[in-house]
Amino acid sequence: MYLCYSDLIESNYHTECVFYLKRKDHYYYRAHKEGYRSRAVFKLKQLNNKFGIFRGAKAVLDLCCAPGGWLQIAREELGDEGVVVGVDINKISSIDDVNFICGDILEEETLNQILSVSKEFDVVLSDCSPKVSGVWSVDHERQIFLAKASLNIAKRVLKKGGTLVIKAFQGNEYPQFLNEVRQCFDYVKTTKPSASRKASAEMYIVAKNFRKK
Ligand SMILES: C[S@@+](CC[C@H](N)C(=O)[O-])C[C@H]1O[C@@H](n2cnc3c(N)ncnc32)[C@H](O)[C@@H]1O
Repeated sequence: MYLCYSDLIESNYHTECVFYLKRKDHYYYRAHKEGYRSRAVFKLKQLNNKFGIFRGAKAVLDLCCAPGGWLQIAREELGDEGVVVGVDINKISSIDDVNFICGDILEEETLNQILSVSKEFDVVLSDCSPKVSGVWSVDHERQIFLAKASLNIAKRVLKKGGTLVIKAFQGNEYPQFLNEVRQCFDYVKTTKPSASRKASAEMYIVAKNFRKK
């Protein structure tokens, strides 16, 4: 089980975990009605409205993309042009004009597969959530580990001046991770879109103008 809905604040973590996985809210039903694969699409739409994530982008990489909601938005935003690549450890059903790689972002081989599709990207997205252990400190550490792996991939594939959008759970490891992102980009903002559940510990880091070395 992956932590799509249950990325909760530390308090009541165990009991709320089950509740959140089952709870279907306004965004869930709206996603279903509008033909999107996840309620997470509304987070990305809100981030894009605020920060112009896809402005001028021709190549987008989406790490931890299943079931594919963010890929649908990326494809919509790029129109008929450009390349959209998604990576997840779990398979997804195909999306027109989207390259999907089934792989673990912690494996070097996955990076090689990404590079075989495109050498450079304008935008890297990362919405990674770990397998739930039910122990907050463990899940927090695992999530930040995935976020760090995403940052490392972004450093290898982003164009100079590129954009990174990355989810990170707030907790002990969060400030240091945020600093690592700040060292690589000129512009870094943290934000919580209204489609993100209030009780969730997730934050989205929007980093622009990648300083490629
Ligand atoms: C919150 S979901 C992403 C939802 C997606 N943004 C959407 O809109 O459909 C988190 C994803 O992280 C993926 N994931 C977790 N660990 C991973 C890993 N090591 N490599 C690749 N994907 C991973 C899970 O399989 C899960 O699909």
